[in-house]
Formats: sequence, structure tokens, C-alpha cells
Amino acid sequence: MSLQIKSFDNYKRVYDYSVKEPEHFWADIAENFQWRKKWDKVLEWNFKDPDIKWFQGAKLNITENCIDRHLNTLGEKPAIIWEPNDPEESHRVLTYKQLHDKVCQFANVLKNNGIEKGDRVCIYLPMVPELAISVLACARIGAIHSVVFGGFSAQSIADRINDASCKLVITADGGFRGNKDIPLKAIIDDALVQCQSVNKVIVLTRSRTPVSMIKGRDVWWEDEIRKVETLGNPVCPAEEMDAEDVLFILYTSGSTGKPKGVVHTTAGYMVYAGYTFANVFQYQPGEVYFCTADIGWITGHSYIVYGPLSQGATTLMFEGIPTYPTPSRFWDIVEKYKVNILYTAPTAIRSLMSFGDEPLKGKDFSSIKKLGSVGEPINEEAWHWFDEKIGDKKAPIADTWWQTENGGIMISPIAGVTPTKPGYATLPLPGIQPVLVDENGKELEGNDVSGNLCIKFPWPGMLRTTYGDHERCRQTYFSTYENMYFTGDGCLRDEDGYYRITGRVDDVLNVSGHRIGTAEVENAINMHSDVVESAVVGYPHEIKGQGVYAYVILGQSEHDPELTRKNILQTVTRIIGAIAKPDKIQFVSGLPKTRSGKIMRRILRKIAEGETANLGDTSTLLDPAVVDEIKTGAL
Ligand code: WTA
Repeated sequence: MSLQIKSFDNYKRVYDYSVKEPEHFWADIAENFQWRKKWDKVLEWNFKDPDIKWFQGAKLNITENCIDRHLNTLGEKPAIIWEPNDPEESHRVLTYKQLHDKVCQFANVLKNNGIEKGDRVCIYLPMVPELAISVLACARIGAIHSVVFGGFSAQSIADRINDASCKLVITADGGFRGNKDIPLKAIIDDALVQCQSVNKVIVLTRSRTPVSMIKGRDVWWEDEIRKVETLGNPVCPAEEMDAEDVLFILYTSGSTGKPKGVVHTTAGYMVYAGYTFANVFQYQPGEVYFCTADIGWITGHSYIVYGPLSQGATTLMFEGIPTYPTPSRFWDIVEKYKVNILYTAPTAIRSLMSFGDEPLKGKDFSSIKKLGSVGEPINEEAWHWFDEKIGDKKAPIADTWWQTENGGIMISPIAGVTPTKPGYATLPLPGIQPVLVDENGKELEGNDVSGNLCIKFPWPGMLRTTYGDHERCRQTYFSTYENMYFTGDGCLRDEDGYYRITGRVDDVLNVSGHRIGTAEVENAINMHSDVVESAVVGYPHEIKGQGVYAYVILGQSEHDPELTRKNILQTVTRIIGAIAKPDKIQFVSGLPKTRSGKIMRRILRKIAEGETANLGDTSTLLDPAVVDEIKTGAL
């Protein structure tokens, strides 16, 4: 069976087949990949422990699927096109052959530096081709990569390195984003003060920012490459991996505690990323595909690197931001490379919309055939703008719903096949069995219902565990509703059976498409010496989707409110990173709490949303008067 479905009727047939005979369906899909040895058993699972195994007994290496198998047919074709932050700097193109050589080379560098199968490697790089090369080089030798987004602070990196006991870090001197030069190596140096497990740091030259290179620990990327070059053999044989060997760890926020390391394994993840990429975007040979995400997030893992490369696609990687040097930048890139498929986020669309039509003038969008959206609910206004201004009403929009834990797209139109509806992720892909449940875990059948979104049957791309803490995985995803994976999202299924994701139902915020736990932000705020207690909620934000609203109780001493506000922002930037900075901080003398001491977030959310008229029942509060004070002081 081909990975691509070509008509809506066929979608319905294939979907039914995938539900009735999931193992046959996934075995058919898996036939489209290259195996050293095929599986003995397609699936073994229970959601109780949970214990999920796909394609047991199979042997493979994902880089053979992403690179080697294309060499004969696509060796001279571009695998990666790289557009730098500064449009004046020259771009780079890596053919599949060149990518193969570079991945092999760097895999040999990793081996030379003591990295073996199963070792964890932390990658903290800007969006340059060497980031994709590093990821693939790890996969080549069976090392487990943990990519950390360049916007996270030293403390966040240290937490992630320590959680996974990484042995090696790959970074750069610095990285360019817009008009900023981010001192990546200096941030790593700060992080490593707290990390015992790391004994090597490989540093790529990018920004020529001065860095301190510590003898015995820090080595330059370029020097290490030269060393393996003199050894002569440019090839690095791919390590034979078991289907369920860990491929990577990626940290993501939840409603409690520190971020957890979502674990993805080799075969299932590969099959799922490749299948969803090919099917949703209906990729055709020769098309130029541009996903604007960062490889520091799951979207970049699955839809810049593994998904497209597994399908022999040309994937465009952009180092910069949509508004630099002008808000025409995305459109300049579309024109320059004749981009056929553009996959971006609602927050980017809204931000570009806010500049009006001027940045679009004279730009050539005629190459665009398909569009995609990911990361948060897309509001109808943004959907229509995307459709009309960028797609000229001719390019289908795939509003793709999925999560870090899912590995790939779950609910989405198949471009040009599924009739779309603005604001709707539409229908589940074949192989995916979503259900809506009420608070008691009762499945809501039929259409025109709203509830919590769960998935009742495994799919190959799902997480297997959370690194080092399987119980946390069980608790978070598999304990709320029996025998179901709980997504944490609320969802509507309309009269046509179409799904519309309404947002998180737990204490997780989605700020500019980034997942941020309110508890995490509160912990960071509480680190500031003047702070006694805080509560963080989200509120609707025109560009970011959600903004961060913090209610803060200060200690007794005298405070300059403006300076204290800035100090708190500085503290959050230090502890988590600038992406988690509150948009609003309101100083309060108390928080609305129940007699048992629980913060009534519902009330705080309403006030942050500006809905102070109907706060519901406040009589159970310990001190109802505090609500009036908070209402009066609301920002
Ligand atoms: C939200 C990003 C509505 C959702 C791939 C989910 C969406 C969280 C959509 C996962 C969409 C993602 N429509 N909401 N098309 N896509 N979300 O792990 O709340 O960074 O739970 O994965 O983003 O975010 P994550």
C-alpha cells in the first residue's frame, strides 16, 4: 500500500481498514521502508503499564532510510537547502550525497570522542545544517540525541543534561536570530558547572563570538573533522538498531514539576514520521518543502529532519525569524527557492498579518501548492488570511493537530483530499483512533459533542516512556482514563464528525506555539528573593495565542514595583529562558484559596481574561475580599 491516499472515498475505506485491522494496516505502511530484518510481530501493547512495542524483532537504521537508500536515485538532488539569518550571507545546499558524507564524517567524530550506542548526547545548536547533521550522526551510531532549543537558559539545559546523564554536548560559539547574537557556548559553560556527566563539548564555529575553550573538555568541530579526514575513510557504517531501541529524548512541559524527557524509539517513530509527512503533504518528487519550526521542538525533528528525508524530499531550513530583516522575509524565501509546501505556525501567521499587506506586495507566491499549520489552534481570521494571501485560495491548508508525545501528525486534513473547514483539524489520519470523554471517563459517542481528547489504540509514533521515570509517564498519560492515552486537550466533534481542538484542559500554556507549564513558571518566579507566592494563568493574546499572566505576592520589605517586575522577568529568563517570561505581572496581597489551601485558578483565569462580571461561586473561599482587590488591580 502506498503511503499517500489520493481521494476522500479512499480515505474512508483505508480509515475503516486501519481500525478493523490495525496490524495489517501498519505492516502495509512499514513495507515502504528499508529494513535490515523485518519484524516478527507488528504490535504488542497495554495502556495499563504502559508497555508498547511496535515491529518487534525488526532491525534497521533510520539514517539508512533517510539517506543511504536515496543515494542511487537522488544522490545529486538537494536534501537540505539552508537559508541563513542574514539574507546577504550565501545560502547552502547539501545534496543527498553530500549529506551522507557529512553525517558519516561527524558520526566518526562522535566515535573518536568516545560516543557509543546508547550514550546520550545533548545538542544545543542554532538552526544551521550542522544541527541536522548532528542529529543524524547520533542516529547513525545509535547514540541518543537530546536536542535543547536555543532559547532555553543555562539552568534549563543543566536540568536536561543531568536528567539524561548526557556524556557529550554539541554546541556553537554563538547563533544568529534576527538582530541578536546568542552566546551559545557561554550558556553551555554556565550549564556545565552543574553537570558531572559531560566530559566533552564539540563547538562549531558560527558567529565568531569569543569563547573560552577549556583544555581537555572543549574541542572545535572543524578540528575534529580534520582529524577524521586524515584517517581517510569517509564512510561510517550504520549501527544495526532494534526496532525498540531509543532514538531520541525530547523534553516537554507538563502541568506539574520539571519538564519530562519524552522517549521515542527507532522503528515506530520512523514509520510514523515518514508516513504522515508523505500523506498529509502529498509530497511529490522535486517539490521544495519549507517547515519554519526549529529543530529544538518536535515539529523540527519530525518535519524538518526525519519525515522529509525518509521520503527523499528537499527540506528547507531557515536560521532566522519571520520578521528579520523585514516582515517580508518568509515571502522572500518562498520566492527565492520557489517553495511548494509551507508548514508554519498560527503565531507566525498572526504576527505577519499584523503588518498588513505591504510586506506581501510584489512577492511571487505562485509556487505555493500546499500549506500547513501546527502548534496551536488557528483562529479563523488567520486561517482565511493564510488561505487568501499566501495560498491564493488554491492551496489546501492542513491544520495539523499533534503533540511531542505523538511523534507525528494525528488529526489533520490530507492536502487536497480531505475537505477543509477553517479552524478544524478535521479528521484523524488512518491508524489513529481518537475518542472524546467526559470528566468521568465515559466515552461520548456520536457527533456534535465536546469533551477531553483521548486516543484509544496505539500508533507507532507514540512515546514509550518518560526518561528515567516510567511511573510519571503512566501517571501523566495513562491514568486519567482507563485504557486510553490522554492528550490534555479539549476538543469538539461537530455535526460532520470533524474535530476542532479547543486548547489545553490542564495547567499547560501554549505561548506562541511553545508549551509552558504554569507550575514551572511559578517555581521560577518564586525563586526571586522578594516573592512569597505566585500563581500563573494564561489569557488570550492577539499574536502569541496565549500570554502569561502572573499574580505575585511580595514580602514585607519596601519595593520599587517597576524594578521588582523587571527583576522577576530576569529571574524567569535565568531559570527557564526568555520564552517563559510573563507578559503581565500583577502584585496582590493574597490569592483566592479554598479552605484547604488550593488556589482557585478558575477565578484567576477569568480575571486575566477580563471577565470579571461572572466569577461564579466565591463563597467557599478562605478570604473572599481578596477577589475584589485582584479585580480592581487587574491589568
Ligand atoms: C497544541 C506540537 C490546535 C495542543 C506539535 C497540543 C494544537 C500541544 C495544534 C502540543 C493544532 C498542536 N490545533 N492545537 N493544529 N497542534 N496543538 O508538544 O494543545 O509542542 O496538546 O507539539 O499544542 O504541543 P507540542
